[in-house]
Amino acid sequence: METKNTSNKLMTLHLKVWRQKTKHAKGQLVDYELDNVNPDMSFLEMLDILNQKLILKGEEPVAFDHDCREGICGSCAMVIDGNPHGPQKSTTACQLHMRHYSDGQTIVIEPFLAKAFPIVKDLVVDRSAFDRIIQSGGYISVNTGSSPDGNAIPIPKENADLAFDAATCIGCGACVAACRNGAAMLFVSAKVSQLSLLPQGEAERSERVSKMVYQMDSEDFGSCTNMGSCAGACPKDISLENIARLNREFMRSMISGRKSYPRRDGANEGSPA
Ligand code: SF4
Ligand code: FES
Repeated sequence: METKNTSNKLMTLHLKVWRQKTKHAKGQLVDYELDNVNPDMSFLEMLDILNQKLILKGEEPVAFDHDCREGICGSCAMVIDGNPHGPQKSTTACQLHMRHYSDGQTIVIEPFLAKAFPIVKDLVVDRSAFDRIIQSGGYISVNTGSSPDGNAIPIPKENADLAFDAATCIGCGACVAACRNGAAMLFVSAKVSQLSLLPQGEAERSERVSKMVYQMDSEDFGSCTNMGSCAGACPKDISLENIARLNREFMRSMISGRKSYPRRDGANEGSPA
């Protein structure tokens, strides 16, 4: 996305913002005009100014999620002009700056739309399905102690790099919002990859992938049909290679003879612990 305002000139923007009081209320796009937008503002600061204006007028501010505003927490879920986190590649909504917009431009702001992420209010959606997937097995269940001395546990450089890249997933859910099926494969694959590539994750490798896929299938996520929109929308550039690794890990778990967990589609048998 090109930088459109390099002059520091304040802008007037036409915003179309999704307003919806509750999960079951009827929502609609509401028009707002916002003056004096500084190009150095972040997208969320621009929304703060809009909210200040609404509060002064006695109107309800726009509800939206945010926390770190540094691109690391994954909270700032919103669709900007049809793109989860906005049109700037590898950028979260909180790190998107208004210099990429021009005076008089119209911007459409909507919540992440996915069956597994029900709307709570305005732009806020419930992404707790991701938490339940992590709780199902996305961790190492024993205390692995403090950081070992360098080279105490040999890890091939390639594995360390791949695990680190997977670990950069911030759990934002943009991959789900970008997928026409609402699939969560990129997120789950990043979390499974991160641990399965490291020796500390090896002990629970088979059980972890089985449990996480079982939980993913138990939520309202759709199926992956290899469209790749997830990776295109990911602000952390999580690679589709992780999905291939997730599939391999899942197959390995199934044929390992270890305890497996049922999938919603009945593709394997067993019972969750
Ligand atoms: S894979 Fe990317 S888009 Fe999906 S949750 Fe992780 S960081 Fe967000
Ligand atoms: S607010 Fe934390 S990533 Fe945007």
